[in-house]
Amino acid sequence: MISKKELISNLNSDLTKEYAAMIQYIQHSSMLHGGEYVEVIDKILEHAKDEHEHAIILTDIIQYLGGIPTVEVYPRQTSLDNREMLYQDLNYEYDALNGYNQRISQAENLGLFDIGQKLRNIALEEENHIIDLEKALGILKIDP
Ligand SMILES: [Fe+2]
Ligand SMILES: [Fe+2]
Repeated sequence: MISKKELISNLNSDLTKEYAAMIQYIQHSSMLHGGEYVEVIDKILEHAKDEHEHAIILTDIIQYLGGIPTVEVYPRQTSLDNREMLYQDLNYEYDALNGYNQRISQAENLGLFDIGQKLRNIALEEENHIIDLEKALGILKIDP
């Protein structure tokens, strides 16, 4: 089981990734080119807004726990290739979802069920981001 201090540190790491994802999505939305990407550009601009919201929720949680929210930003990635950009975004989403799934149990192990719930709501949105990107890339697995 981790300490509250370690949870704060992990949440700050999540926060650096939310900032990065937001910036990356904004930049990718302007770099994606070609008619088939019009729909996904709208989607990822929505994702950018969601990541902005997630960053605010995380700063509130960190502050509530007695920590100081970071201003550090995780490295961003970009490409001149459409699919490569979408894969970069997708990999960040997988990483974010994996992180939140760990964070939910870490918070709940400390008895912080309200925070666990807030993190669960964020995780659900990351899952939807993954579905949007997998659909755009044509790799969404359908199990009829
Ligand atoms: Fe997010
Ligand atoms: Fe996301």
